[in-house]
Amino acid sequence: MKPIKVGVLGLGTVGGGTVNILKRNAAEIARRAGREIVITRASARDLHKPRICDTQDIQVTNDPFEIINDPDIDIIVETIGGAGIVKDMILTAIANGKHIVTANKSLIATHGNEIFAKASEKGVIVAFEAAVAGGIPIIKAIREGLSGNQIQWVAGIINGTGNFILTEMRDKGRDFGDVLAEAQFLGYAEADPSFDVEGIDAAHKLTILASIAFGIPLQFEKVFTEGITQITRTDVEYAEQLGYRIKHLGIARKTPEGIELRVHPTLIPERRLIANVNGVMNAVLVKGDAVGATLYYGAGAGAEPTGSSVVADVIDVVRALTSDPENRVPHLAFQADALADIPVLPSECIKTSYYLRLNAEDKPGVLADVTKILADHNISIEAMIQKEPSKGETAVPIIMLTQITLEQEMNAAIAGIEALPAVSGKVNRIRMETLG
Ligand code: NDP
Ligand code: HSE
Repeated sequence: MKPIKVGVLGLGTVGGGTVNILKRNAAEIARRAGREIVITRASARDLHKPRICDTQDIQVTNDPFEIINDPDIDIIVETIGGAGIVKDMILTAIANGKHIVTANKSLIATHGNEIFAKASEKGVIVAFEAAVAGGIPIIKAIREGLSGNQIQWVAGIINGTGNFILTEMRDKGRDFGDVLAEAQFLGYAEADPSFDVEGIDAAHKLTILASIAFGIPLQFEKVFTEGITQITRTDVEYAEQLGYRIKHLGIARKTPEGIELRVHPTLIPERRLIANVNGVMNAVLVKGDAVGATLYYGAGAGAEPTGSSVVADVIDVVRALTSDPENRVPHLAFQADALADIPVLPSECIKTSYYLRLNAEDKPGVLADVTKILADHNISIEAMIQKEPSKGETAVPIIMLTQITLEQEMNAAIAGIEALPAVSGKVNRIRMETLG
């Protein structure tokens, strides 16, 4: 049989890792795929830049469309990133009848509905395992391994850069900016690193996970998104004293009212495995009605871990080439005409428990005023600590953990507490999950 010809768009971290794996493991890969797979063409912006991969035997161009329009290329691997010109590249490649493997979560989360529709019309596959949680085969696990279940919730550490920053800050007391610079040097961060630290990258990934878990269209614009930039050392320390770790989580939960889609810093009991996932590692918990809770762990970013997922997708595409397009695994796990119109809940309707930290005057009646406001909003307090005032200060930090409540009630309660004359500054709120 003729070898399958692959064109790789982008020769950076992920493109380079992919080339290395496909070359190094070519014989094993051919035994698995049933065909030889060769990269014959690749593109990069700068043809003189040093590469992490050997591009001998590969024709390299700075015009991706040369590859997209080359009739000899069977599969396009897209590792450029972003959703602008890359969308045109992918749609052109699909129109040219090429199968696509992409690591681009931004593209899939924001234009996936359109891209999958075009791909289905054309009978080609768009595979995107590398788009979520780097080297962890989480898409395959949910889409195929758990396909007998009703998925109840998914919760994961799904941004490697963010977890790397939080871990280094907590364990070594390092400065946020320094650790981010190291994550960029190591190739973990997005081209625009605000995507990592502001939670946008995690929101892209959660959008994809929620679609394949619940069979809903991709709806990135409905994800409630908070990043890690507001996490303070003080909160990390108080959380630890209370037996919790702060992790940046993406959470998708099906409730009787609709689906919660949210990305934010979260207090998790330190005894949970996921609370101990550190550095660039990612972990995703998936709860199915039949299987119960399952946990998937591995490197969330980096050249070869991500390349591992890209190459697995290339092999899957090759194996599926002879199958009838109607009988392939659907892009979003559910048949395209069976996607459900379940509402995604607005953030006010989120139900969770909270860690609150406020600074209040150390005088009689203040605590009673705070607890009355919470009670007026049906918020029960689970635990409370009042710290000693710092030297020369009259205000004391008060930390409270609440029971599960409605975000709307919490918003109103926080506004009421902040308006108390004896309370200074903002109330710092971090959501909590037991993940039991
Ligand atoms: P890099 O910046 O390392 O590589 C991007 C590549 O695309 C480079 O080779 C660059 O050329 C080329 N390129 C950039 N812009 C253009 C353009 N406008 N036209 C043509 N070529 C262009 O990115 P990564 O490898 O880190 O990321 C690639 C994709 O993979 C992104 O979607 C990212 O979100 C995703 N991803 C990244 C992971 C990681 O660990 N880094 C993990 C999982 C997914 P040149 O080298 O000449 O500048
Ligand atoms: N910037 C991303 C991260 C790359 O740090 O998780 C992997 O998707």
